[in-house]
Amino acid sequence: MSENELIELGKKNAAIKAIEDNLEKNMILGIGSGSTVVYAVEEIAKMNKIKNLNLKCIPTSFQSYQLIIENSLTLVSLDQYPEIDLDIDGADEIDKDLNLIKGGGGCLVQEKIIASNSRKIIIIADYRKKSNFLGEQWKKGVPIEVIPIAYIPIMKKLTSLGGKPILRMAKMKAGPLITDNSNFILDVDFGIIQNPQELDQKIIQIPGVVDTGLFVKMASNAYIGQKDGTIIKI
Ligand code: 5RP
Repeated sequence: MSENELIELGKKNAAIKAIEDNLEKNMILGIGSGSTVVYAVEEIAKMNKIKNLNLKCIPTSFQSYQLIIENSLTLVSLDQYPEIDLDIDGADEIDKDLNLIKGGGGCLVQEKIIASNSRKIIIIADYRKKSNFLGEQWKKGVPIEVIPIAYIPIMKKLTSLGGKPILRMAKMKAGPLITDNSNFILDVDFGIIQNPQELDQKIIQIPGVVDTGLFVKMASNAYIGQKDGTIIKI
């Protein structure tokens, strides 16, 4: 198998096992974003159909909104269901304490809102994502969503915190990437992050920062699909 095929297998196995272990009838679900979540939604839709589970799904992005609809799942909103039973999401990196870097797909703000209103947060990922400390595996920096008019002063403040910020640019369009919330994303290299909680607290205090891709002590468990087809649960 090629490396890409092994990665896809890892994502799919992790997603299927996570759903098998955690999905229950009548649940309100948070649906994360990214390529791994696609496998989870397909499995949720299959189970919902076979077992008539009466599930309701809240998206974390335009991508997951479309996924819910395309898979004929019931779309609801946080306004209607502010208490979520189970949030299924991917991650860019998972450390030994289950802290995460998220936002590689640019959806971190809605993902964090949904996660913070969920009783259980299950992360699904392939073997490339696991590390001891954040910043060991994910080398693109911590994604930070910012209000566009403030991005230059925010970059300066992030530099004084020891980071190397880059404005994320759009693909197939000249200029910056615009998030689902009409903001910019800064990808900030902080090297190896020993204390994600402290860093997150410092960044979040900068005016104009909407939120960070550091998800500290939020995840309940992570299912990580290995190259040999097994799944490690942490
Ligand atoms: C999007 C995210 C994704 O969950 C994260 O980037 C992982 O994506 P993938 O499953 O494609 O590796 O945080 O904002």
